[in-house]
Amino acid sequence: MLRLFRLLLILPPLCLVSAWGAEPAPPSAAAQAPCVRHLVVRNLDGKALTLTPGEFAKLPRATVRDKLPHCDQDGVYEGVLLHEVLRAAGVQFESPADAAKSPAAMRTAYVLVEAADGYQVVFSIAEFLPRQGGRQVLLANRVNGEPLSAKAAPYQVIVPGTVGCERWIRQVTRILVQPGTSSAFAPPPGPAPAPQAAPASTPQAAPATKETPGRVYLVGTGPGDPELISVKAARLLRQADVVFCYSWMKDEIAGFVQPGAVQIASPLLMGGQYCGAKPADFEGELRDRVVRTNEELAKLQQRVKELVAAGKTVVFADNGDPLLFSPWGWIPQHLDECRPTVVPGISSFNAANAALRQGVVGLGSLLISSGTELGNADAERRLRGTLVVFTQRAKLDELLPKLQARYAADTPIAIVCDASYPAERVMRGTLGTIRDVLGGEKLPPLYLVYVGDGLAAPPCCRSWQRWPK
Ligand SMILES: C[S@@+](CC[C@H](N)C(=O)[O-])C[C@H]1O[C@@H](n2cnc3c(N)ncnc32)[C@H](O)[C@@H]1O
Repeated sequence: MLRLFRLLLILPPLCLVSAWGAEPAPPSAAAQAPCVRHLVVRNLDGKALTLTPGEFAKLPRATVRDKLPHCDQDGVYEGVLLHEVLRAAGVQFESPADAAKSPAAMRTAYVLVEAADGYQVVFSIAEFLPRQGGRQVLLANRVNGEPLSAKAAPYQVIVPGTVGCERWIRQVTRILVQPGTSSAFAPPPGPAPAPQAAPASTPQAAPATKETPGRVYLVGTGPGDPELISVKAARLLRQADVVFCYSWMKDEIAGFVQPGAVQIASPLLMGGQYCGAKPADFEGELRDRVVRTNEELAKLQQRVKELVAAGKTVVFADNGDPLLFSPWGWIPQHLDECRPTVVPGISSFNAANAALRQGVVGLGSLLISSGTELGNADAERRLRGTLVVFTQRAKLDELLPKLQARYAADTPIAIVCDASYPAERVMRGTLGTIRDVLGGEKLPPLYLVYVGDGLAAPPCCRSWQRWPK
């Protein structure tokens, strides 16, 4: 896929058809489409061009005939080809012969189209080139001689010849050329586009949505393999002015963040167990800890508020999914005032499933637990579904007896260490044999434990649930 990008693109000398300026904030999701008239197009330099309807109308016009969504009739859409819109914003499409000369940042850039309601679609730049198959992606503002309906206005992307209209994005308000990375490990060359303040004249300069100034994000960065970070998480890390993380995450995210952006959070905040607790409810050292935790929390809250007020993008980074046994799980509650956006991540659980290479939902149920607290065991009512344990810092020696109280000794168990890292390993046995399998080997800090009959499903049935007879 990345090869497609290599064919094209260089940044041109700036040729503008309208005023360059600070990028206006997108309208709020609640905004009514008919009121949204301006189109923001941002190029790879981070420079935003705001087109009024009149300026849009002066760009080279084109028409495309295609099926109207949700009916069998054809419609004639009229507007401006998307590559012409990009050209107006200063993106120059070069000939393939010169592609090798183009900066890596342009070869890997992609185009993010955003709607007023938050819907987003990504295109590769190469998709807009006639020589790449001639797909004429159109930014339409009229259909069958009429302005677009309120549901689709002010602009709708028309992708002719597609099955399904998922990428026929309506109510388009922003088109952003985004830097990609040539390697998931490496940050893109050049400075990350700086968030810019909304001008006072912007219509509906409303509370920001994604990636606009002054936002707080809780971001999952995936289970370890840097290629398993989402496109969105990588972009937010790259654009963030400040990235808060705990010390062990520093190296994991180093390849994604701007220099100097990382700030290590106080370990007192980890897990948020005592965040907001009342010191009077505790005694001795614990009371002291609660007091200090609340001081750290207040400091952090104040700092984040200041950053947001100054228009900065703040990211709290966590590995895996940020709400699954996460040390930052309390952020949505305690930073509620800043309306943090949660960006999910691939959990170590997903990575461990992949390492096991089988469907793990045994007898129709899956329980996910943490540490050695498996709930209040009733020795007579054993578990039958698959149990997955995020071990945290629990020792296997403490965990095994609790598992043995819940499952028969011949129940399969799998231990997945360092899922998605180069050192990934899977050890299998039964609850009765696993100690022998390990042979006294010390497990690494990161591992998940799976227990249940589902792990023993025969190969032909491994991706299917098995139900008790
Ligand atoms: C604080 S929890 C964080 C979980 C994270 N939010 C997630 O979704 O994967 C840490 C525990 O997750 C598990 N874990 C995290 N990364 C792992 C990996 N790459 N391989 C195996 N287990 C992992 C371990 O049990 C570890 O003790």
